[in-house]
Amino acid sequence: MSRSPTEHRVPNADRLDEDGARITVDVDGQEITVFRYDGEYYAVLNFCVHQAGPLCEGRLTGRMTTDEDGWEWTYDDEEKHVVCPWHGWKFDITDGTNVSDSRYVVPTYDVEKRDGELYIVR
Ligand code: FES
Repeated sequence: MSRSPTEHRVPNADRLDEDGARITVDVDGQEITVFRYDGEYYAVLNFCVHQAGPLCEGRLTGRMTTDEDGWEWTYDDEEKHVVCPWHGWKFDITDGTNVSDSRYVVPTYDVEKRDGELYIVR
């Protein structure tokens, strides 16, 4: 039997007033961080699957890639990554996938905006 999704209002969501802002909230005993990035909202569990670090306290960044020869670097700010502050693992905040190894994934959640409020849906 599947459980129907539950909405959790994000308190003080007005603080997410600029890109890069974040709020971490307790949802049923789990910390979930809502990021604002490029005007969109993303919710990520504040838990690194490497060694349980506070993933969402890390910096937000785009992605650095190299060409085939490894000489020319490109910064792609279309991708949205959070860098774990403990050992530097990077995860895509849109789907929780580890940038280097897609076997590692942190939970992400939908965020809905309604009547000036934000809701995490899980
Ligand atoms: S705990 Fe996050 S990279 Fe190690």
